[in-house]
Amino acid sequence: MAPSRHRDYYPPMRVGFVQTEPRFGEVAENLERVRELLADPSADLWVLPELFATGYQFVSREEVEALAEPIPHGATVDALVRLAEERTCHIVAGLAERGEHDRLYNTAVLVGPGGVLAGYRKIHLFAEEKRWFHPGDATFPVADVGQARIGMMICFDHLFPESARTLALAGADLIAHPSNLVMPVFAQVTMRARALENGVFTITANRVGTEGRTDVSLTYTGESQIVAPDGNILVKAPAIGEATEIVKIDVSQARDKAVTAWNDRLRDRRPELYAV
Ligand code: ACM
Repeated sequence: MAPSRHRDYYPPMRVGFVQTEPRFGEVAENLERVRELLADPSADLWVLPELFATGYQFVSREEVEALAEPIPHGATVDALVRLAEERTCHIVAGLAERGEHDRLYNTAVLVGPGGVLAGYRKIHLFAEEKRWFHPGDATFPVADVGQARIGMMICFDHLFPESARTLALAGADLIAHPSNLVMPVFAQVTMRARALENGVFTITANRVGTEGRTDVSLTYTGESQIVAPDGNILVKAPAIGEATEIVKIDVSQARDKAVTAWNDRLRDRRPELYAV
């Protein structure tokens, strides 16, 4: 017999992204700009880009060391928690973390009014990040904020379908995806598939602008987006310029993994037949 389909009621949740153009190394200024961009108090959850307070294009390990911060207390996380308190919201954002044994990580945190709820150290490091950062060795986290279960992954993780699948299997309703994307189109396409194949909402918060701190300049591609569990883009920012967007979502859509009356995205998996 086909399984019956019914949905519990969840009050609508307002989720948004902030697409920023940080100035390299100007942490206080970049934090202040985010505070201005978050002027609209109506989101329950905001997602900010990867390394949003420092900028991305480091040129030495010493430079990362000087800008990296401990978690749970450092200027960036403290500022995020204060913002979350003032606006009564949750925030996911990326920052350079100074961890144990002076290891440096490209990290995302989920903070709320009470402090840090979860941290994630980027597992799949991209390009020169491998020169500065230690890869994370803990799995992708999911934290329940009451209205939804929030999972985190960072930028290049999008190219590995296992990242989003791991989060979905751990119960994530929504994947927060702080990013500094430099390859146009890639993640805007993969994240639609990640949302559709896992039946989750995804929020990619990308940055814009160009950093030319070496002879290779990096141009960040914007087009931050929020995708629904059916793969449809709910909102997308332009490729150029700062932007904030908020949409209202029905989290129950992410709790129903049915594809047809006979098929379920997660229960129909055959992991015993998959190569790992
Ligand atoms: C990236 O992972 N920042 C491309």
